[in-house]
Amino acid sequence: MQKKIADLLSEVEAFTAGSLHEVEAFRVKLFGKKGDLTLLFDEFKQVSGEVKRELGQKINELKGKAQTRISELKEALEVGSAPALTLDASRPGSADSIGTRHPIASVRSEILAIFRQLGFAVAEGPEVEDDWHVFGALNFPPEHPARDMQDTFFIEKRENSENPVLLRTHTSSIQVRAMEKQQPPIRIVCPGRVFRNEAISARAHCMFHQVEGLYVDQSVSFADLKQTLLYFAKEMFGGGVEIRLRPSFFPFTEPSAEMDVSCSICGGKGCNICKGTGWLEVGGCGMVDPNVLDSCKIDSQKYGGFAFGMGVERIAMLKYQARDLRLYFENDVRFLRQFTAVV
Ligand code: DAH
Repeated sequence: MQKKIADLLSEVEAFTAGSLHEVEAFRVKLFGKKGDLTLLFDEFKQVSGEVKRELGQKINELKGKAQTRISELKEALEVGSAPALTLDASRPGSADSIGTRHPIASVRSEILAIFRQLGFAVAEGPEVEDDWHVFGALNFPPEHPARDMQDTFFIEKRENSENPVLLRTHTSSIQVRAMEKQQPPIRIVCPGRVFRNEAISARAHCMFHQVEGLYVDQSVSFADLKQTLLYFAKEMFGGGVEIRLRPSFFPFTEPSAEMDVSCSICGGKGCNICKGTGWLEVGGCGMVDPNVLDSCKIDSQKYGGFAFGMGVERIAMLKYQARDLRLYFENDVRFLRQFTAVV
């Protein structure tokens, strides 16, 4: 028995392992049901007399050394296998990629910069608005279809409130807020996100961006409006672009017009984006209706003005020729990465 203990001790001391699996096999070899140490303890039970004490000490010493050796090896292998601590200094470094400005954000600031050159200041307003600022003050009659749940996201029921809370359907609400706060001269551009209850398709979305413009002063004319829009179009799309104003109707302007820009996708020849017309509608405009001025406590006998509103996505589409409106909202990095050069 003395010899068995000595042999096992040198075996334990000499044992090394390359894997946790080998350590486990060694543990079973010693401490398993039929393990060397287990059998040795069985044998030890039969021993009696003087030698028992001495053998007992040695056997326990062996057991302790075996346990320490096994746990040491296990620990070393577990730590070694943890990925955080494996360091390969020869690996090439990983490059950080630079983010991009969203195309809508850059078109928006480009639009604002053009109007700033003309002396327009930037004004903003809330996305969650009320009926008065979106419709009432803008001369929408009570039964106008835009005031229907089909077209507008209402937050409050119309039956429950005289001035229900809703998501603004256009940035024209900001011109009302500006006129309520300030007397003319007013010259502002108002960027913002707007919401409409529409089915999502390549050409329409329930959320998009507009920039509204407003100029109120004494003796403002339709010619001023036309020249402002032409200047904008040429700055935005280049000197060769043309604009067209088509008679239209908006409750808040009289007369009103729809503004088209010659289609830069097909060069005016006609394509599926401009529906073969060579023109793309970018917004509406007109002379501010005196009723709107009166609603905002501005003397319509003394002052007049023009207003316009344009879709930022429409302009981005013309500029970048990405034809599906949905791309601008999905934030797919494969789309966004293509705008790295845009500032
Ligand atoms: N608010 C209109 C819309 O969302 C756009 C618009 C048209 C704004 C004519 C104006 C305007 O200021 O004069 O369709």
